[in-house]
Amino acid sequence: MTVKRVLLDCDPGLDDALALLLAHGDTELDLVAVTTVGGNVALENTTRNALQLREYLGFTTVPVAAGAAGPAKGEARNAAHVHGDGGLGDVELPLPTLAPVDVHAVDIIIDALRAAPGEIHLVAIGPLTNIALALAKEPRIVEWAASFVIMGGSYTRGNTTPAAEFNIYADPEAAATVFAAGWEVVMVGLDLTLQALVTDSIRERMLQLGPLGRDLVVPLATYWSDPEDPDWVGQAVHDVCAVAYVAHPELFTCARARVEVETAGTFTAGMTVTDFRSNTPNSLVPIALDVEAFWDYVLESYATVARQLSARHQLSTPQLDG
Ligand code: BDR
Ligand code: CA
Repeated sequence: MTVKRVLLDCDPGLDDALALLLAHGDTELDLVAVTTVGGNVALENTTRNALQLREYLGFTTVPVAAGAAGPAKGEARNAAHVHGDGGLGDVELPLPTLAPVDVHAVDIIIDALRAAPGEIHLVAIGPLTNIALALAKEPRIVEWAASFVIMGGSYTRGNTTPAAEFNIYADPEAAATVFAAGWEVVMVGLDLTLQALVTDSIRERMLQLGPLGRDLVVPLATYWSDPEDPDWVGQAVHDVCAVAYVAHPELFTCARARVEVETAGTFTAGMTVTDFRSNTPNSLVPIALDVEAFWDYVLESYATVARQLSARHQLSTPQLDG
């Protein structure tokens, strides 16, 4: 078994939490650090959510580091209308007892990649502010990352504006820097993630995970619904797809493209303009997902955590002698 090492930069966030759960639950992934960024909700909340999830799920040896609160340029934007004011919908976890490390996320990213060149997959599932800052401080992370995968962008449509996906729209300047850095960006965008939907039958399978399913996975995966979408069938687990890509790229059909980020358009700011005919591609764009195999993989990884949690619960519950 080849274990892949992953550093996750995130803004939990409903689907970020589900992505963290996958990165922790898949025994073939080794989560080396979690860095947070302001995005779906304020940095204070995304960091607290990461800390709460770390203790609840039991990956307390993995460092959590806070990063940028918002974009260097332009106003901070959030998606609290989707994720709830706290960021995890209706889920309320115990307050964390452990603090984040006293090192900025940008330095954690640089130091981790420098210490293990070619070994760590960098996965960014929030606005790209931390990654752009890391590139400015240490451009060699481009060579050191085993791969660089984002959830963000789209080649057809937006979800925050008609043209822009949230993670890119929240910091288009950072996204432009990241796509221009000279590495291959795996752009797991909306066109792909909207294939990973929590349908009623997936929800039923999530419930079979027991307390983890009932108390965490289903509430996170079903909190949001779009009243304006007449074809609504369920939430998309956007960020989960980026982690799944690292573990199982064979589930994704991809095409190379050149992606440029629109930073200034009146109607198009934050758009990822994707040219599949370019002779100078900078991105690998997943376009089709093996949906059935994806859910089998994700739910099996979640089941691993469900078993760990129930074993931990039994250990902490005093056993009565018969
Ligand atoms: C992306 O935006 C956020 O709201 C989600 O967490 C995801 O990373 C989807 O557009
Ligand atoms: Ca996110």
